[in-house]
Amino acid sequence: MDNTLDNLVSLCKRRGFVIPSSEIYGGLNGIYDFGSYGVELKNNIKKLWWQRFVQEREDIVGMESAILMSRQVWQASGHEKEFIDQLVECKKCHMRFRSDEIANSKVKVQNSKEGCPQGGEHEFTEPKKFNPMFKTYVGPVEDEKNMTYLRPETAQGIFVDFSQILTTSRQKIPFGIAQIGKSFRNEINTKDFLFRIREFEIAEIEYFVPSPEASGQAPSISSEQVEEDEKYFKKWVEEWQKFILDLGIKKENLKLYQHPKETLAHYSKKTIDIMYNFPFGWKELAGIANRADFDLKTHQSKSGKDLSYFDQETGKKFTPYVIEPTIGIERLMLAVLIDAFEESKPRTTTTEVTHEKEIILHLNPAIAPVKIAVFPLIKKDKLPELAKLIYKELQKNWLVEYDETGSIGRRYRRQDEIGTPYCVTVDHDSLKQKDVTVRDRDTMEQERIKIDQLPDYFREKLIR
Ligand code: GAP
Repeated sequence: MDNTLDNLVSLCKRRGFVIPSSEIYGGLNGIYDFGSYGVELKNNIKKLWWQRFVQEREDIVGMESAILMSRQVWQASGHEKEFIDQLVECKKCHMRFRSDEIANSKVKVQNSKEGCPQGGEHEFTEPKKFNPMFKTYVGPVEDEKNMTYLRPETAQGIFVDFSQILTTSRQKIPFGIAQIGKSFRNEINTKDFLFRIREFEIAEIEYFVPSPEASGQAPSISSEQVEEDEKYFKKWVEEWQKFILDLGIKKENLKLYQHPKETLAHYSKKTIDIMYNFPFGWKELAGIANRADFDLKTHQSKSGKDLSYFDQETGKKFTPYVIEPTIGIERLMLAVLIDAFEESKPRTTTTEVTHEKEIILHLNPAIAPVKIAVFPLIKKDKLPELAKLIYKELQKNWLVEYDETGSIGRRYRRQDEIGTPYCVTVDHDSLKQKDVTVRDRDTMEQERIKIDQLPDYFREKLIR
């Protein structure tokens, strides 16, 4: 049996990547905190995403909308009525499931591992509608009038600010608005570690493109303009996959899945999921949806505000179509960790080997939480002093750890487990020759590098 996930969960706990929320009070189901290495990994992924899609592009600008928005936003967007999961409950054990999950994995649910704890198979009730948006109140009075929701997606914040951002950014169609932010879904069933959780971050772009109206064609017919949004859609499927692959995920672990009409979200004309080969099966990692003009049109009609676009060149006014590439940061982080995780026989061939296995996280250096670790070979003879000087110098550019405790082999293993790509060891020769040993996490090759050349050496190595 593949126990990669169990081993990864225990590594994440042991090394403080991921901590169950409120753990000292027994935890809060489906909610996680991120410890010192977890937050670095997450931030590095978000930084690369922002760099790729905002900083390095002329046609995309960023924004940050509030988590709380008027309830009218969620009424207009259709989330209040249409963002529905079907919930079923086992009459014997009262466990609750999403009915689509049961339909997809009937055999698994009925089999012993996930069978009814009361014995035999589950006996399900008829499906009931369940809206996974968390309710809350704005102001001190807890009544219907003041009720709203924690946002279940970041997209609506972009749509409601579309006109303002268009004006202030002076963009022209095609252009995109990017956002990374917290989203909340009161999932019926949380499972598989970070895969399905209740509070998570979404990174998404709403990329506005010409609609059939832009060339004066009727919106419904299949015309060349309809193909134009399809052209952008295809491009975004490629760009999104490329970003995931560039993070270091193996190609063979990704595949595409196009949703049939029946399973499309209420706003979508077409959706392709990028699926990842998780240890618990092929599952959605990211998605690209063609939301057409659904959102801008609905907000325009419900708010009474003009959300159309005026094309200076053609003199035409139209509501743009929108292509939406989206990805969950924690889900991506889980895929990245699974892909990087290796459990190997001991690689350290010294007499002090007492362990049976070693864990190496082969993370892309660009997202590794710690980039370099600096060790004095021993804790005397002025080696710690020199190692600390090197550590302080490298710290100006990268997140670096200093470690002088335990054997050198143990210190290497500690860094391998958190995915640190390079370890620098200061030994007695370093005092005379002014050089150090740099050890590569993946190849375990060691090189002697002059101390004064270390910043340039790492600048080159750590380029993404
Ligand atoms: N604006 C479109 C949208 O929100 P979605 O497919 O519902 O689309 C976007 O969610 C992404 O967020 C998904 O592709 C997935 O990576 C992630 N995601 C969705 N629900 C999640 C959950 N409960 N836990 C963790 N990640 C989730």
